[in-house]
Amino acid sequence: MKYTRIAGTGGFLPEKVLTNHDLEEMVDTSNEWIVDRTGICKRHIAADGETTCDLAEQAARRAMSAAGKEAHDIDLVIVATTTPDQIFPSTACLLQQRLGIHGCAAFDVQAVCTGFVYALGIADKFIKTGSARCALIVGAETLSRIIDWSDRDTCVLFGDGAGAVIVEASSEPGIISSHLHADGKYAGLLQVPAGISSGLAQLAESGAFVEMRGNEVFKMAVTTLGRIVDETLDHNGMNKSDIDWLIPHQANIRIIKATARKLRMPMDHVVVTVDEHGNTSAASVPLALDKAIRDGRIKRGEILLLEAFGGGFTWGSALLKY
Ligand code: UT7
Repeated sequence: MKYTRIAGTGGFLPEKVLTNHDLEEMVDTSNEWIVDRTGICKRHIAADGETTCDLAEQAARRAMSAAGKEAHDIDLVIVATTTPDQIFPSTACLLQQRLGIHGCAAFDVQAVCTGFVYALGIADKFIKTGSARCALIVGAETLSRIIDWSDRDTCVLFGDGAGAVIVEASSEPGIISSHLHADGKYAGLLQVPAGISSGLAQLAESGAFVEMRGNEVFKMAVTTLGRIVDETLDHNGMNKSDIDWLIPHQANIRIIKATARKLRMPMDHVVVTVDEHGNTSAASVPLALDKAIRDGRIKRGEILLLEAFGGGFTWGSALLKY
């Protein structure tokens, strides 16, 4: 049996920090409200001209270095992003060129906040079927570019960043299973209602900004993530107590705590980074994973549950032995 094993991780946050106190100067909000309702203290914002590919490159280089891999070792590049540099080429192709990787498949995945979990599931299938041996998977976003900074419902929530993972074929587990879902009937609850085929002129005129019915999204996220925990454990005949670490999408500390309660997981076995960078969409899960691996909390042989929920709606999980 061939497994997909994590060989190395990397993360990158842009230098500029926007605190809750900074936001108090911009919209009618307070540090207390943001911390209490979301758990977020600050977020990082890409500098003018700094792109998703710039962030992805830094995270990717760190993951390659941690894995001891060179450009020529990599035979698949997937970038999960909602905020690509260009309409085309894909950010994955731009990144491939930056890193000096040539010829292998490279493509973007658009599943909003679930994008990294989708990309991990896709890479696992490439590796299990023998189509790839060593994949670079990146979740990278410049969400700040599609935020209406006068809308307090959304502007306090999001930030920029990138997380990357190198995975490779191994005879030892590895990714045990991945579970990917979507239901487009909820598209209107969380969306950027602008795009290319609906008209570039309109896009130029009105802009493209995140719109969210926050409370409805919150409730769906809690119930859906609870269900995917059960689905993942049942699929593998495992118990809640078999999980060593929960690495959740970092959208809101209250959603994270609800999933942890469902798993009966003490919070010191849940990786939380939402306080440091807010919701970085597709970058959130790999950033959290990288942090807990680098600081030594997550150790080889431990069982990790990764999960995410986002626009679409999309949702997914990956269970793996690190
Ligand atoms: O990553 C993809 C998935 N995204 C998410 O999972 C986000 C899900 N949603 C959430 O995290 C939460 O719904 C929010 C943090 C967005 C909002 O928290 P909530 O507990 O659902 O609050 P609410 O929307 O029910 O609003 C409560 C009150 C309202 O005032 P009234 O109507 O009670 O007077 C809002 O107008 O809080 C008000 N409010 C704010 N107050 C201060 C909304 N935004 C703010 C703000 N500062 N930034």
